[in-house]
Amino acid sequence: MIQLFRVSKSFGTSKALQDINLRIRKGEFVFVTGPSGAGKTTLLRLIFGTEPPTEGQILIRGINLNRIRRTSLDLLRRRMGFVFQDFKLLSRKTVFQNVAIALEVTGERPAIVRKKTHQALKAVGLSKKEELFPLQLSGGEQQRVAIARAVVNDPLILIADEPTGNLDPDITRDIMILFRSINLRGTTVIIATHSQELMKDTEQRIILLKEGRMLRER
Ligand SMILES: Nc1ncnc2c1ncn2[C@@H]1O[C@H](COP(=O)(O)OP(=O)(O)OP(=O)(O)O)[C@@H](O)[C@H]1O
Ligand SMILES: [Mg+2]
Repeated sequence: MIQLFRVSKSFGTSKALQDINLRIRKGEFVFVTGPSGAGKTTLLRLIFGTEPPTEGQILIRGINLNRIRRTSLDLLRRRMGFVFQDFKLLSRKTVFQNVAIALEVTGERPAIVRKKTHQALKAVGLSKKEELFPLQLSGGEQQRVAIARAVVNDPLILIADEPTGNLDPDITRDIMILFRSINLRGTTVIIATHSQELMKDTEQRIILLKEGRMLRER
């Protein structure tokens, strides 16, 4: 599903990722962890195709991101959900519109867009806030809108960057249950997190990054 061959990423002289070799299979549930600045966000952004690697190759479903055309990359990305560390909500659109947009760009029928958007917002506990704007929400609520937007179109790959960083333990548990159920439906899930709490009691694979290198896996 996802393959990285000798991938490195530099910003000027600073090396955010160095010589990463990684294979994530379809339907896997993987955590990426490591200290602040270790390269977690950079790794997720490379997989999402937001930025090219400085060296190495990245294949998603057998497609080499270095060789793919812009339009094909956009199509591929529509099959992927990304929960950004800073949410990236549209401030002039309502909660409902922020989530619905992920379906609208795929050309989904309006009735289906409405149904799936309501469902996704219900799953993250925001049914009552659909008509509010992002700035009228708490940080944790904004985070949940970002999660609803990422999962609403049943992505092939769900990538989440610190998805529960601002959430209380009860909601964190609900969000993890949501991610698991999405994973059980076949979606490959990759979550970057500092949280030991999130990873405890899991059998999931854990990829540990430090100073841009992959230290070990469990
Ligand atoms: N656009 C950029 N320009 C310059 N340097 C960058 C850029 N993005 C990341 N870096 C550098 O790459 C390194 C890894 O950053 P990254 O954001 O991937 O870390 P992280 O593991 O996600 O950290 P955190 O846990 O704080 O989110 C850092 O040293 C950072 O300064
Ligand atoms: Mg980060």
